[in-house]
Amino acid sequence: MRKPLIAGNWKMNNNVSDSLKFAATLSVELKAAGQIDVVMAPPFTALYSMGVALSDTEFKLAGQNLFWEDSGAFTGEVSGEFLAEIGCTYVIVGHSERRQYFGETNETVNKRLMAAIRHGLIPIMCVGENLAQRENGDTWQIIEEQLTDGLRGIDLRTVAHFVIAYEPVWAIGTGKTASPDEASGVHDSIRNYLKERYGDETAGKIRLIYGGSVTPANSRELITRENIDGALVGGASLDPKKFADIVRSAH
Ligand code: PGA
Repeated sequence: MRKPLIAGNWKMNNNVSDSLKFAATLSVELKAAGQIDVVMAPPFTALYSMGVALSDTEFKLAGQNLFWEDSGAFTGEVSGEFLAEIGCTYVIVGHSERRQYFGETNETVNKRLMAAIRHGLIPIMCVGENLAQRENGDTWQIIEEQLTDGLRGIDLRTVAHFVIAYEPVWAIGTGKTASPDEASGVHDSIRNYLKERYGDETAGKIRLIYGGSVTPANSRELITRENIDGALVGGASLDPKKFADIVRSAH
């Protein structure tokens, strides 16, 4: 059985004091994570204090990105080593906003995944098509390319721990969610792809989560699908009450 995972991607929102308020409210709203992996990805500046605030809880932290080198003359970058040191368990890799605004490619996604593995961070690897690609009927081709190139050189035992987030770009921050049928169709294809590439046992361990306008109103019908093992939540994760409701919907 795969353990459900709900991750909140705060993007460039919540400074340190907002983040600490969030942590305090969440701990009241949601006493324990229960049988769910509950993950928050604050901005880099708030990670350390969130780590301290959440140290007695079961809630986990994620970086929103990492650089592929461990240290050196890379102004403005943050390495996997630094994230691991301050208590991150997960790291988001290849989010569509990184691809769209910051030149992320499948090749750089691969390098970042390798760096995450080196430092014992569990990657939440994002894949997904944009509107034009979907309208052209290229959805699967794009995702297959993202998986094939992104996961290049990563072995069975390592990939089994990965989380893959299917995030249709047209559904991110737009209020347009993929229907449970649309989302689970793509999730089924990703699972089949992973089975062919890594075998049934390994593929069966990889968690596939959905992202794109997930709210407390639609999360349950998405998460109860066989191959949807949780959600990567942007906008709705900024409100601790909504985030807690989404976590509860995964129980
Ligand atoms: P959204 O963002 O929930 O605001 O659509 C999801 C994401 O970008 O991870």
